Amino acid sequence: MSKKRRSASQRRTKIGVFDSGIGGLTVYKELRKKYPFCDFIYFADTAHVPYGDKSEKTIILYTKKIVSFLLRKKADLIVCACNTASAVALKSLSANCPVPIHGVIDAAVREAAVFSRVAVIGTKLTIKSGVYEKKLKKMNGKIKVKSLAAPLFVPLVEEGWAGTDVSGRVVKIYLAPVKLMCPEALILGCTHYPVLRKEISDYMGGDVRLVDSSSVVGAIALSVSMRRGRGKSSFYVSDDPGHFVRTAKKIMKVSAGRAKLCTEFL
Ligand code: DGL
Repeated sequence: MSKKRRSASQRRTKIGVFDSGIGGLTVYKELRKKYPFCDFIYFADTAHVPYGDKSEKTIILYTKKIVSFLLRKKADLIVCACNTASAVALKSLSANCPVPIHGVIDAAVREAAVFSRVAVIGTKLTIKSGVYEKKLKKMNGKIKVKSLAAPLFVPLVEEGWAGTDVSGRVVKIYLAPVKLMCPEALILGCTHYPVLRKEISDYMGGDVRLVDSSSVVGAIALSVSMRRGRGKSSFYVSDDPGHFVRTAKKIMKVSAGRAKLCTEFL
């Protein structure tokens, strides 16, 4: 093999992951475990979090910029680790993208569609899009679905209030109508929500299957060229890297030591 060809095949595959904030780190962590040999580039749109209260048009605009950024950084595959963006922007993002882009919704739908009563919680925009309900019903014509927006969950997580009595009470208030339908599965349709998994499971009961966005990891089949050593991770944010680094560490147990600020997103 020529020197040039060898170096091309030894380049590490680079996976780009993005979200509005730290929520996508729940997916990043699982991807990192599955693909330790890959390089990762994580982008958090901290200047614009939360996405869930914004319009479809705005989210498309924000996320198109993020995808171009990840492509400039040479991502070989992109994971949109945000349900809100997956719900309203994935089609536009995939349209002219030269690399595969995975959203987080289809894999969660496949996992949940085997049940007959499923509840979905997500941001206002995800729930308004009706995407989970449509896809679940397409896969299983007999399924009963209840969807509910739980917008306070994102700031609770971002503030580091998971595991407190406040988060326990908010979970109870939001999920009371969901519990009434006795779901067999509950889709945590926002990548921030797994941080509240304990209080959600305590309230819903241990026999309710909690399906989250990390299901996408099982659905990604990637042929990785270099399988030695460990790839590196770089973190980029659109505002306040210090806050991102602190919350990533405290809440997600991810060390994002040198998160860089990209002012082009402001
Ligand atoms: N974590 C994101 C999601 O999965 C977005 C939350 C937000 O920014 O509102 O929907």
